[in-house]
Amino acid sequence: MSSRQWFLTILIIVFFFSSLAFPSIASSQEALLDVVEEEEAAVVGYGYVVKSVAVDSNGKVLTANLDLIKPSSVYGADVQTLSLHVSLETSERLRIRLTDSSQQRWEIPETVIPRAGNHSLLRFLSEEDGGVNSSENNFLADPSSDLVFTLHNTTPFGFSVSRKSSGDILFDTSPDPSNPNTYLIFKDQFLQLSSSLPVNRSNLYGLGEHTKRSFKLIPGDTMTLWNADIGSENPDVNLYGSHPFYMDVRGSNGHDEAGTTHGVLLMNSNGMDVKYGGSRITYNVIGGIIDLYVFAGKSPELVMDQYTDFIGRPAPMPYWSFGFHQCRYGYKNVSDLESVVDGYAKAVIPLEVMWTDIDYMDGYKDFTFDPVNFPVDKMKSFVDRLHKSGQKYVLILDPGIAVNSSYGTYKRGMEVDAFIKRNGEPYLGEVWPGKVYYPDFLNPAAATFWSNEIKTFQEILPLDGVWLDMNELANFITSPQSPGSSLDDPPYKINNLGGKTPINQKTVPATSIHFGNVSEYNAHNLYGLLEAKATHQAVVDITGKRPFILSRSTFVSSGKYTAHWTGDNAAKWEDLAYSIPGILNFGLFGIPMVGADICGFSHDTTEELCRRWIQLGAFYPFARDHSALGTARQELFVWDSVASSARKVLGLRMQLLPHLYTLMYNAHVSGVPIARPLFFSFPQDNKTYEIDSQFLIGKSIMVSPALKKDTVTVDAYFPAGNWFDMFNYSFAVGGDSGKHVTLDTPADHVNVHVREGSIVAMQGEAMTTREARTTPFRLLVVASKLENISGELFLDDGENIRMGKEGGNRDWTLVKFQCYVNGKSVVLRSEVVNPEYASRMKLTIGKVTFVGFENVESVETYYVRTSERFKGPRISLLKTVLDDDDDPRFMNVEVS
Ligand code: NOJ
Repeated sequence: MSSRQWFLTILIIVFFFSSLAFPSIASSQEALLDVVEEEEAAVVGYGYVVKSVAVDSNGKVLTANLDLIKPSSVYGADVQTLSLHVSLETSERLRIRLTDSSQQRWEIPETVIPRAGNHSLLRFLSEEDGGVNSSENNFLADPSSDLVFTLHNTTPFGFSVSRKSSGDILFDTSPDPSNPNTYLIFKDQFLQLSSSLPVNRSNLYGLGEHTKRSFKLIPGDTMTLWNADIGSENPDVNLYGSHPFYMDVRGSNGHDEAGTTHGVLLMNSNGMDVKYGGSRITYNVIGGIIDLYVFAGKSPELVMDQYTDFIGRPAPMPYWSFGFHQCRYGYKNVSDLESVVDGYAKAVIPLEVMWTDIDYMDGYKDFTFDPVNFPVDKMKSFVDRLHKSGQKYVLILDPGIAVNSSYGTYKRGMEVDAFIKRNGEPYLGEVWPGKVYYPDFLNPAAATFWSNEIKTFQEILPLDGVWLDMNELANFITSPQSPGSSLDDPPYKINNLGGKTPINQKTVPATSIHFGNVSEYNAHNLYGLLEAKATHQAVVDITGKRPFILSRSTFVSSGKYTAHWTGDNAAKWEDLAYSIPGILNFGLFGIPMVGADICGFSHDTTEELCRRWIQLGAFYPFARDHSALGTARQELFVWDSVASSARKVLGLRMQLLPHLYTLMYNAHVSGVPIARPLFFSFPQDNKTYEIDSQFLIGKSIMVSPALKKDTVTVDAYFPAGNWFDMFNYSFAVGGDSGKHVTLDTPADHVNVHVREGSIVAMQGEAMTTREARTTPFRLLVVASKLENISGELFLDDGENIRMGKEGGNRDWTLVKFQCYVNGKSVVLRSEVVNPEYASRMKLTIGKVTFVGFENVESVETYYVRTSERFKGPRISLLKTVLDDDDDPRFMNVEVS
């Protein structure tokens, strides 16, 4: 029998069995739903049934037509017929698309988020084909994929996605008959999709942007996604960005070992509540379609690879952006800026980048300078001075353009009709400069206008980066609703700002219109993404260099263009702790360059809090001290104890720059975050699933910061293996299984450890990255008896638009290191993947520090492939240093 014949046979069997098997369920559901509807206690949906199923001629796309069973009366009329398309776009990515079959609905355009390779691999497989089969349901699978799609021909219909290898069900929309809030509902302004989850085995992460007390989602959490200008000091409410993506790390099910991970994205830009109940996840969305993607994993790293392959790889960040940044809202004038730069130099604390907030503007108008406090000539000499000393300068831009007929930017914007409209006129909002219009970045003319403004500005002041703020869109006023408009006042109220606040609250009203007749209702969550995309392109066009953009508002795929900070936190101990889940979340969202305002944004910080904050913040991928207008000054040199801690931790950060930059490369090519939760490296250790007070830099450097006031110890978890102190390389903790350890954390110390088996590339300490890059390389090689000892180093000029081999770029070098013990010799092997950059720059490794090796008598090195001029370590001198205080089993060996 052919696949098609099999399919039809099964279909007939399925309908036969389903009519036998489900009549009682159908009638009991009706009874139940009637009761609930009478009480009006909840959304009542009766779901849909399968009317027909077809597989395309290649056997690659399953299409089903679905009919509504019975309409419900809440949140508007139900869509009568739906069409379902299922395709396996790659062997690791399954797409399930469900929409109104009678008319087109809003979907995020490909021009906004280009989706990689939407070809389909899926095949309908029969038993004869060696595929999966059943007498009751329709299975779709492909021999190359672990993902199996099952269409449940039940009443109402449901679908599930499972793993072929283990049978584990990853997503299952079959409703719970006792709970009407689990039915599939599809109305114009209300979609409901609900999946069951295996309680106790499912560990969910993601779905932001929110400030959460824990990284792992907690049953009862509602994650509302509607971009809002609300301080990140407010836990559990929708913040600046929207990422309808989660990662599910599963405990063992007997087949799969613990740590098997998949990802789920609902590609939808409309406002939504995502409700997590422990045994279910339910999406309540106010528009668009159901466009669900399941990423097979099965490790956290592979999920990130698959997710960012689809949404776009994280943008490479310039090398300098890994230096330390100083900002403040409220710098008074250029002399104030100069004194901050001098303060850092005097205190011998590395300062890479100086920032200026809206204070520099004339009347808070973009692309202008305050003629009294920040006159352009003084600004130019200030930036010139920064550049001479190897430092950089970043300025803020807000999207709101002041409505002022003598303001050039406004006039040029009006000439090209660049602004978002409402009722046929540009929509009038209010932000810092007073009345404003907002550029409509869906309009190509607005993107060109913005690019030209940046170009003119850049010609006046050579900026190194652009900071995009207030792009949710923030508005200081709430405009009246259009009478009777269901866009301004949709029937289902998402839990906006934690209290079902109207969606128009202090933003651009939902009835406003973008280019192409797209409503703000649909495009609201995309604004920050579109602005970052336009700005990124502008900077590439203008400078020809790799852009550094920092955006407050983000959406799926923003990582392709921008870095992110977690917004307005408070100088409070809780906010110090919340910064870790905040940062880890953005790693999952494909935005690995992320940080929180070090020392806290609002409220006056204290010496102790600021000291603890820099001890943690020095290890954020993006490290910036920033504070609010009117708060106490908090530059790191203000207190001696903070300054001394800063020298220590930023000193280590500067040494680790080659490692951080290599992690940026890894993020760019495979999506894996720079700052990672512990479960990324230890997915089988389920004790790591709850941990959000520690994190990893890359695979194996673990930061365990002090997060409480008046503390001198910190409780840390060490996954199995030997761990060594990153400040003095002494043996710290070890064993075959994970251990909870109480570590000392005196006032000036943060615990940072490196795990066995690592080779970490480092350079010397310096005041700027430019200077640090001139110091010799050093390798830290950490012994392991059980595991491979390996590491990588990626190098390029740090500002090429392309990172690595993209676009035919050859000016880079990747070195892969491996180490093993051969008798009493330690052998270090390096493989140079592409010698160009290191060879051009004549780079050498000055020193190798072997940590934790026992009874070593000699060291050998060799190269698999190298260029003539790439000089690796010339090992002529062997110096052994025995740790006297710690475990004598471990010996540190220095080679130079
Ligand atoms: C809000 C931003 O989140 C904050 O960082 C900035 O200082 C203020 N806007 C003023 O521009």
